[in-house]
Amino acid sequence: MCGIVGYIGPREAYPIIIEGLKRLEYRGYDSAGIALFDGTDLKVCKTKGKVVDLENKLPTDITNTGHIGIGHTRWATHGVPNDVNSHPHYSNSGNLVIIHNGIIENYESLKKELINRGFTFKSDTDTEVLVNLIEDVKNKENVKLGKAVQIALNQVVGAYAIAVFDKTQPKEIVIARLGSPLAVGVGKDEFFIASDASPFLEYTKNAIYLEDEEMAIIRLNRDIKIRKIKDDSLVDPYVQTLKLNLEQIEKGGFDHFMLKEIYEQPKAITDTYRGRLNRQEAIIKMSGVEDNMKRFLNADRIIIVACGTSWHAGLVAEYIFEDLARIPVEVEYASEFRYRNPIITEKDVIIAISQSGETADTLAAIKLAKSKGAFVFGVCNVVGSSIARETDAGAYTHAGPEIGVASTKAFTTQITVLTLMALRLARAKGTISSSDFRHHLLELEMIPKKVEKVLESNDHIKYIADIYKDVHNFLYLGRGYNFPVALEGALKLKEISYIHAEGYPAAEMKHGPIALIDENMPIVVIATKKGHYEKVVSNIQEIKSRKGKIIGIVTEGDVDVRKLADHVIEVPETLESLSPLLTTIPLQLLSYHIAVLLGKNVDQPRNLAKSVTVE
Ligand code: F6R
Repeated sequence: MCGIVGYIGPREAYPIIIEGLKRLEYRGYDSAGIALFDGTDLKVCKTKGKVVDLENKLPTDITNTGHIGIGHTRWATHGVPNDVNSHPHYSNSGNLVIIHNGIIENYESLKKELINRGFTFKSDTDTEVLVNLIEDVKNKENVKLGKAVQIALNQVVGAYAIAVFDKTQPKEIVIARLGSPLAVGVGKDEFFIASDASPFLEYTKNAIYLEDEEMAIIRLNRDIKIRKIKDDSLVDPYVQTLKLNLEQIEKGGFDHFMLKEIYEQPKAITDTYRGRLNRQEAIIKMSGVEDNMKRFLNADRIIIVACGTSWHAGLVAEYIFEDLARIPVEVEYASEFRYRNPIITEKDVIIAISQSGETADTLAAIKLAKSKGAFVFGVCNVVGSSIARETDAGAYTHAGPEIGVASTKAFTTQITVLTLMALRLARAKGTISSSDFRHHLLELEMIPKKVEKVLESNDHIKYIADIYKDVHNFLYLGRGYNFPVALEGALKLKEISYIHAEGYPAAEMKHGPIALIDENMPIVVIATKKGHYEKVVSNIQEIKSRKGKIIGIVTEGDVDVRKLADHVIEVPETLESLSPLLTTIPLQLLSYHIAVLLGKNVDQPRNLAKSVTVE
């Protein structure tokens, strides 16, 4: 994880870097730091905490000097978050500074060698080892910074996106990437460096994305030279024109990105099916699926790999694909899949789901599946991300940038894409009737309006949140399509409010979790009309007789659950297979309000980061 920003050009580097770091804080916020070159000297300031803490710590004279600089916001891997472990890190001579996103796996052996050669270390980080390795190479081989970086990186095992500056060659910044994203914004006589394009969107829409195992030397008033790290061959820079705009990454009047993103779901879902779903002609068109129809139709099974919320979307997809398209589906945590020698054949189709498109475990699972000859299809939100590029084909969710660390609109748009895929395949396989297919299209088109309706319950949900905000445990129960929603509801609550929460299939309750129930335990039960309704009502009765407090997510007009529950939140009626798109919304809002009422930082919950590029 970690966010990297850099600037070289005619403008003041400081404001560009500080504002850029704020936009990248979703990538980690354990510490922040900046290095600026004022024409004669290098000034470094860094601190544990957020970018705002860095701003408060900066001496006034650092804020308005220099046209070259690099900055970093950290998600700690090696070494606790403190000032010393923060980036940038100096080399022993004080000439080089580095910022780094990723993990150098062989740093301990490299460190030992460097210590034997007389180097000393202040921090516990792998990054300080890397900058000294570069310095050692530079001195030993008597080469310039670019060459030294290249030689050093060939000795490194791990993942990185780095930016290195050498005050003895103060007209260039050297950057490199393997496994962690790095973009270069190309302006007139200026270059911006960043982990994603958000820090430079207002300056330029032209961007180059470095590929894995590429490095670049970026020179003041000159050009950018990209080379392969392994063999030094030159690469032609491919400059893309970005479609993102600044408004999309700002809060737009909401108190938090998370709330804004919850409210964006009607539009995000519409954007995701727009151009793919044509109800008048009763067709679904998805080029990634059409072009590979044979692979899907001949598949023995689909294996879905993902992490976290994306894994929950995968679980919903398991129900949809099996139910509608009658294709067997397995859903795997990417982190487990990649290390357990899974049986994968050329007749398997892998679907990798990832909002960021950068999750290290998912990326590794994809590479493993590809090496066994499987066809890999990506469902990503971030255009041009590593997973989007690594997969054989794919379909983007069109959620727009998701900045809040807790995933919301990414989840519902992932389900939308996966539903479209399942419907398309069901039609091709003949496992769905034409009238049923049309009915699904109609209902899917109505989902955004129904989400808007659910959002109208916001005040009521806030009222419920206020009643339960001080409890220490929550249970979430659901069955069928809504079992993964229960898992997702529990994840959302624990990650932003730090209240312990568990999700279970409702019927599993009596196999253990029921022991937890007493008058202090709130239980959120998804009990919509379709989908084992009577059975869920029985589960609710079991809870009630143990005095548990019930928050029921019910279909509009529900009578039975209302009689038993302490609170109900209504969602409009829809098809069972589409119900997760509605039942998820109140759970997102409930977590949001509890976290806000508890005074937690909902957009940047502790210990988390938006893009998990370490395994
Ligand atoms: C939870 C959350 C995480 C992510 C997970 C996978 O709200 O955001 O659990 O879902 O880290 O991330 P992506 O989808 O980017 O691969």
